[in-house]
Amino acid sequence: MSTIDPRSPILSARGVRHSFGQTEALRGIDLDVHAGEVLAVMGPSGSGKSTLLHCLAGVLVPTGGSVTYSPSAGKSPVEISSLGEPKRTRLRLTDFGFVFQFGQLLPELSAVDNVSIPMLLGGTKRSEAMRRSADMLDRLGLDGLGAKLPGELSGGQAQRVAVARALVTSPAVLFADEPTGSLDSLGSENVLTIMLELVREFGTTVVMITHDARTAAYADREVIVRDGVTGAGYRVST
Ligand SMILES: Nc1ncnc2c1ncn2[C@@H]1O[C@H](COP(=O)(O)OP(=O)(O)OP(=O)(O)O)[C@@H](O)[C@H]1O
Ligand SMILES: [Mg+2]
Repeated sequence: MSTIDPRSPILSARGVRHSFGQTEALRGIDLDVHAGEVLAVMGPSGSGKSTLLHCLAGVLVPTGGSVTYSPSAGKSPVEISSLGEPKRTRLRLTDFGFVFQFGQLLPELSAVDNVSIPMLLGGTKRSEAMRRSADMLDRLGLDGLGAKLPGELSGGQAQRVAVARALVTSPAVLFADEPTGSLDSLGSENVLTIMLELVREFGTTVVMITHDARTAAYADREVIVRDGVTGAGYRVST
C-alpha cells in the first residue's frame, strides 16, 4: 500500500506569471499538484500549458510568482523558481522525468542507449545503467527491441522508449507534454495504459498535458488553462 499522502502538494505554484517579450503566456497561476496523483492539464492551443509545465519543472524560471517543490518526507521544500540553472538542471535529472509529443530520442543511439542517458548523466555505472534500461524496456513490452535505432521502431514503440527513459531514474514527478499526441488512438491508448500502470505502481506523480478528453480520462484530476490562468475553467473530476 502506498504511504503517500494524496493531499500533500509535491508542487505548488503561487501567482506564477511568465512573459515571452510582449506575450504574457501565464498571468497568475495558483496550482497544487498532490503527491502520487495523475493530473491532466487541458486547454486551447496557445493558452500556456507548456509554459506552465516548464515553470513547474524548473525548465523556465517564471517572470513572477513562485514554484515550490516538496520532495518526500524528511527533505526540505525547495523553491525551484529561485534556483540557478545548474541546481535546476541537477534537480531535473535526479527528481523529474520528461516525455514529449515526439519522444525526442537520439536517432543515432539504440533504444537501450537512449534509455541509459539520464542514468549515465547522473553517474550510474554503464553496466548497471544498461541492465536497468533493459529491465525498463521489458516493463514497457519492448523486450528484444533494445538494440534497434529509433528510426527502426513504430511511433508507439518509440514513445514507449521515451517513457522508459523518463521512468528509469524513478523520478518523483513525470512531466508529459502531449505524450501520445503524435499517435493514432489505438497507439495512444497502448502507451497511456502501460505508462499509467507503471506510474501507479511506482507512486510517481504525473503532470500530463493533453488535448484529448479520452486521454484526460486516465487522470485523477484535470485542470484547464485558458489565456494563462486556471481560474474559471478549473474543474476537479474526482
Ligand atoms: N519560446 C517562446 N517565445 C515566444 N513566445 C512563446 C514561446 N513559447 C510560447 N510562447 C507563446 O506563449 C503562449 C503560450 O504558449 P504555450 O506553448 O505555453 O501554449 P500551449 O498551451 O502549450 O499551446 P499548444 O497546445 O499549442 O502546445 C503562446 O502565445 C505562445 O505563442
Ligand atoms: Mg504546448
